[in-house]
Amino acid sequence: MNKPENLTHSIEERAKFREMKEGTQEDWAIIGAEYMAFAKDLPDRVLEHLRLLDGDFGGFPVCRLEHSLQTATRAHRDGRDEQYVVMALLHDIGDTLGSYNHPEVAAAIIKPFVTEEIHWICQNHGAFQGYYYFHHLGMDRNIRDKFAESPHYAACAEFCEKYDQAAFDPDYESEPLEFFEPMVRRVMAKPLASMYAKALEE
Ligand SMILES: [Fe+2]
Ligand SMILES: [Fe+2]
Repeated sequence: MNKPENLTHSIEERAKFREMKEGTQEDWAIIGAEYMAFAKDLPDRVLEHLRLLDGDFGGFPVCRLEHSLQTATRAHRDGRDEQYVVMALLHDIGDTLGSYNHPEVAAAIIKPFVTEEIHWICQNHGAFQGYYYFHHLGMDRNIRDKFAESPHYAACAEFCEKYDQAAFDPDYESEPLEFFEPMVRRVMAKPLASMYAKALEE
């Protein structure tokens, strides 16, 4: 991963504590400045990680990056807003590090920047996507029904039906990743909610 050029590295510019409980306001002014610079480049790190899915087919008709682009393109062309489209783009970004719980990885990354419903869709899309293939693996395709009481059930089912399960067509003309980059940068420019929100404002 590239580090931002404005990150400091000399010992004079680092906090002095050896245990956090020794930390001073001066230490935290240094760390806070570094944090702000690093956090600003989150969209770049996310996009770089998304590119790891390029060429990773896993037996599917399209690679995981094309599936992501196709899911996002279908959502965008259907008139979804930027938060939704960015969620669609990133919904499988956890495939690399979350082989057994990939929806939760993506959901955690987008959580500060999207509505509760869009986060919920991302977090639970795995169970809803199962409706389209779990029965081929001897599993219960209706496992999504454990969420029947959720106010977001219909929205998540719709995401999978219209965009996710539909995004494996090698002949579909998806937008390139560059098309979505400005959206990712806008959506991730500022967290809507974060336990660090107060510090971020100063
Ligand atoms: Fe997925
Ligand atoms: Fe997917």
